[in-house]
Amino acid sequence: MSASPPRHFLDLWRFDGATLRALLDDAARRKAARQGWPRGRPDADRPAADRVLAMVFEKHSTRTRFSFDAAMRQLGGDVIISTASDMQLGRGEPIEDTARVLSRMVDAVMIRANRHDDLEHFAQAASVPVINGLTDRSHPCQVLADLLTFEEHRGPVQGRTFAWVGDGNNMCASFIHAAPKFGFKLRIACPVQYHPDLMDLARAGARAGEVEILHDPRAAVEGADCVVTDTWVSMGDTDYETRLQAFEPFQVDERLMKLAARDAVFLHCLPAHRGEEVTDAVLDGPQSLVWDEAENRIHAQKAVLAWCFGGPT
Ligand code: CP
Ligand code: NVA
Repeated sequence: MSASPPRHFLDLWRFDGATLRALLDDAARRKAARQGWPRGRPDADRPAADRVLAMVFEKHSTRTRFSFDAAMRQLGGDVIISTASDMQLGRGEPIEDTARVLSRMVDAVMIRANRHDDLEHFAQAASVPVINGLTDRSHPCQVLADLLTFEEHRGPVQGRTFAWVGDGNNMCASFIHAAPKFGFKLRIACPVQYHPDLMDLARAGARAGEVEILHDPRAAVEGADCVVTDTWVSMGDTDYETRLQAFEPFQVDERLMKLAARDAVFLHCLPAHRGEEVTDAVLDGPQSLVWDEAENRIHAQKAVLAWCFGGPT
């Protein structure tokens, strides 16, 4: 067990802006340093050498699962992956006991949890770093990858305007947390009944005008540098039909994208539901950065993992 408290990565609002900025810079630096390398070759400094990351999934995943695995290999470490349903956790073993046991076996745990409170309880009981791989309330690793992607193509996010169109969900919450830390403006367009949790604005320390909640997608997108959306029905949501109806006016199509800045980009964490929250023309169009965004999960998470293992940032 480590003597100092473990470096958990649970939510962006818990960090100061300088630390988050350093994480993003480290991600960009690491990515640039291995251009043209075989994907399995470890980074020269191997900050995760001899370390093992456990990944526990209570929900489905493609990107998070593969990107954390690839990230650990590139950092020189190893992984153990399990779905919660294959563990005693799935049969009712307390999450705190699971955290205590895994803390004796691995050096860090990434968990994708159904309930955010479970992530918090897991982290409280763990004596190794715990990383939020998505909960019902937030998805911080994804938003770091999104910002890395924007900056690769358009330069610093500071002072730019992001438009979130659609559900005030876990992804939206992590964007709210990120905006004041990175100094970008966030305009959210959502149906009134699916607005974000206002506590997230308070947690993020957002000042007046930094994060705006609107209900007209056109007003949100007008002149924006980046348009972002996500599924209308997240994992765990049950009101599929009601949601499809409520979100119909919030589809990101070419007409909506035309209202954004001329060089605006489009982001989506994926998986996308083509023909629902986004049209094929936008997802596959010239403004879309979604494939870079998916790859950047690896690079952003490498910075997070290196920090969890005691890196300098
Ligand atoms: N964006 C994302 O987290 O994808 P997965 O659900 O496939 O991990
Ligand atoms: N909001 C989505 C994100 C998937 C990566 C969900 O929680 O299902």
